[in-house]
Amino acid sequence: MRKKVIAGNWKMNKVGSEAVQFVQQTAEQVKPSEQVDAIVCAPFPYLAQLVEKAKGTTIKISAQNMHYEENGAFTGEVSPVMLADIGVSHVVIGHSERREYYGETDETVNKKVHAAFAHQLTPIVCVGETLEQREAGETKSHVQQQVEKGLAGLSHDQVSKTIIAYEPIWAIGTGKTASSEDANEVCAHIRKVVADSFSSETAEQVIIQYGGSVKPDNVDELLAQSDIDGALVGGASLEPASFLKLVEAGAK
Ligand code: 13P
Repeated sequence: MRKKVIAGNWKMNKVGSEAVQFVQQTAEQVKPSEQVDAIVCAPFPYLAQLVEKAKGTTIKISAQNMHYEENGAFTGEVSPVMLADIGVSHVVIGHSERREYYGETDETVNKKVHAAFAHQLTPIVCVGETLEQREAGETKSHVQQQVEKGLAGLSHDQVSKTIIAYEPIWAIGTGKTASSEDANEVCAHIRKVVADSFSSETAEQVIIQYGGSVKPDNVDELLAQSDIDGALVGGASLEPASFLKLVEAGAK
């Protein structure tokens, strides 16, 4: 059985006191579980503080992006070395907002995924289609290309430790969720792509999350699907009570 992984992607929200309070409050309530991992993806300025707060608790702390180089003349960027140095465990790579607004490509995603593994960070690799691509029947081919290019050159062991987040762009922050059947169909396709590119054992192990308007009242149905192993959640992860409900759903 694959573990469920619930990750809250705060995006560019919260100030330090709110972030610390959130982690403190949720860490008290998320019990150690074989069934579920709970991850908070926080803005850069608070990561070190949150890692300290989360020490010895069940909450893991993730960055939302990073550069692929270890250091150098990249003003404003944060490197995998720095994230590893402060004790961050996960990093979101290739979120659609970064692809759309900051020129992230499958090639930079691939470099970042390799850099993450080189520094013992677990990548949460985001893929997903636009509404136009869905309507043109290109969802599976587009997502397949993102997965193949994003994971190119990784070892089977690395892929088995990767988290892939399928986030249809038209479902992000819109209140429109893919039906659980449609979401599962794409997640199953992603698993097949991993099986074909690596091995079926690797595909059985890789965690595939769904993201896009996940909330406490639709999470059960999504997590009940055969190939959905968790959720990457934006809006509904910002309040502790709501985040805790999502984590509880993962532990069922
Ligand atoms: P929402 O849950 O707000 O739709 O955001 C999804 C997302 O982009 C998580 O990374």
